[in-house]
Amino acid sequence: MNRRSAAEAYEKVPTSIFESSSAAAASLAKEVRELIEARNKEGKPAILGLATGSTPVPFYRELIRLHREEGLSFKNVITFNLDEYYGLGSDHPESYYRFMCDQLFDHIDIPKENIHLPSGTVPGDQVFEHCRQYEEMIDAAGGVDFQILGIGRTGHIGFNEPGSSRESLTRRITLDRITRQDAAADFRGEENVPRFAITMGVGTILRAKQIVLMAWGENKAGVVARAVEGPVTDAVSASFLQDHETARFFIDQAASRELTRIKLPCWWVR
Ligand code: PGA
Repeated sequence: MNRRSAAEAYEKVPTSIFESSSAAAASLAKEVRELIEARNKEGKPAILGLATGSTPVPFYRELIRLHREEGLSFKNVITFNLDEYYGLGSDHPESYYRFMCDQLFDHIDIPKENIHLPSGTVPGDQVFEHCRQYEEMIDAAGGVDFQILGIGRTGHIGFNEPGSSRESLTRRITLDRITRQDAAADFRGEENVPRFAITMGVGTILRAKQIVLMAWGENKAGVVARAVEGPVTDAVSASFLQDHETARFFIDQAASRELTRIKLPCWWVR
């Protein structure tokens, strides 16, 4: 059995292993560029689903480079972000709105009105309606063409923590302890990390036409293997991507270490 067939035997989502996160980000940015240009030719907007966290940063850097050095325009791009911390205003330094402006939006020519994130400050009694409207806006734009994802150590995509159903839609959720621990450094202490967030649901994400999940580093290797090779289960939200027609994983070598094709002994794959 060679490594390619080992991958096919065990991996239930097509998974590309790259030399580095920047090589993966460049490959992904090239695909997104082609989508934007194809949509431009048709006179239609490209609808991108975007993620926050450290994972997509090299991808955003590459999009900015394509804009600055190669003239890629985002005038015809509409974006929907996955999630926002509940309780943080858009001007809070740790809000995902701020993050997106710093990491991408302030450096490209996307019109402000084309940018969408859930609001972190919608009053409690209006959260349900706000989430319903977010779903409606995505549908009204024609649905997400290309959804970018990271993965949390809990297996979350967006903030869909363990227990989120395959059908779940945009809603307010309680953040998992592990997720809050992982965010503690950004907030100078776990006690400062918001307890809730508004996130697109698993069902919302699965409606996207194309999906790429990125993961870098050894601390993601275990959860990547569970999502790619394990059973489809609400204990690992990313495993639901196995049921999506076009979902793919782009990972670096460190994040691939727990995959069977990497762990198999040489005598087995020879
Ligand atoms: P990270 O977070 O990119 O900061 O690792 C990923 C996630 O929680 O989805």
